[in-house]
Amino acid sequence: MIKQAIIPLAGLGTRLLPLTSIVQKELLPLNGKPNLEYIMDECIEAGIKEFIFIVPKNRPTIKKYFFNDSFYKKIIKKKKQNKNLKKIFKKIKMYQKMIKFVYQNKPNGTGDAVLKCKKYLKNEHFLMLLADDLIIKKNCSKEMINLHKKTKGSVIATKKVDKKTLSRWGILGVKNKKKYSFSINEVIEKPKLNEAPSNYAIIGRYILPKKILSVLKNQKRGKGGEIHITDAIKTLIKRGEKFYGNIFKGEYLDSGTLEGYVKSNLRISKL
Ligand code: G1P
Repeated sequence: MIKQAIIPLAGLGTRLLPLTSIVQKELLPLNGKPNLEYIMDECIEAGIKEFIFIVPKNRPTIKKYFFNDSFYKKIIKKKKQNKNLKKIFKKIKMYQKMIKFVYQNKPNGTGDAVLKCKKYLKNEHFLMLLADDLIIKKNCSKEMINLHKKTKGSVIATKKVDKKTLSRWGILGVKNKKKYSFSINEVIEKPKLNEAPSNYAIIGRYILPKKILSVLKNQKRGKGGEIHITDAIKTLIKRGEKFYGNIFKGEYLDSGTLEGYVKSNLRISKL
C-alpha cells in the first residue's frame, strides 16, 4: 500500500537564478500552474493520501502558498460573486489537508531529506519524488505503484539517456529486462562513462522501503559531501533487497535548469 509521498523541497535552485532569488523553484508556474502542483496531481491520481514536504525552516514560501487562509477569506468576502476565487481556495484547501512539513535546514542531500521524515512514515513502502523531474502524458507514479503491487519490491523510474550525459545521473545496472521493467542489480550516482553499468538513468521517482532509514542513519557522505539516497539503495541491493526499474511511458521534462524550464513551458502549453 503506497499512500505517502515525500518531496524534498530544500534545494536552493541556483540553476534557475535570478528567478529563484525571489520565487522558490517548485512554485514557478508552468503554463499557469506551479511545478509542484503537477507533481502533487500526479500523486493524487495515483492514490496518494499524504504528502511530506521537506523544507528549510527559514524559507516559509511553500507553507505560505498552501496555508494562507486568512488572505483568501478576506478577498472572498470582498468579492462575494467571484466563483473562480472560491474554486481556487477549495483546491488549495484540498492540498492543505494532505500536507505535513518536516525541516531540513542545510541542503545535505536526498538521503538526509528522507531521514528527516522518519517520524511520519507509516507503511512498509513510500513514494519519493524530485520536483524538478516532470513526467507528462502518462502517470509515472501510477505505473510504479502497479509494478510494486506485482513484485512487492522497491521501484525506481528510469529512462535511457544519451551516453554523453551519463555523469549527470544516477545509473542503474539492468537484469532480466522486459519491455517496460527490469531487475536492478547495481546503481551508481553520477558515474564516469567507463564505470556506468548501462545507460538507464534514475529519473526522480522512487518507491522505497522504510528499512532504508536504518541504512541512511549510518551512511557516510558521498559525492559533493551529500548523503545520497542512491548510496543507501546500493547498500540495500547488496543485501538482497529487490529493486525494479520502471521504464516509464510518459514524456520526461527537466524543469530544474533555465533552459529546461523554458522548454517545459513550451511543451506543456502545446498539450
Ligand atoms: C538526482 C539524483 C540522480 C537522478 C537525478 C534525476 O540528481 O541524485 O540519481 O538521476 O536526480 O533528475 P540531481 O539532479 O539532484 O543532481
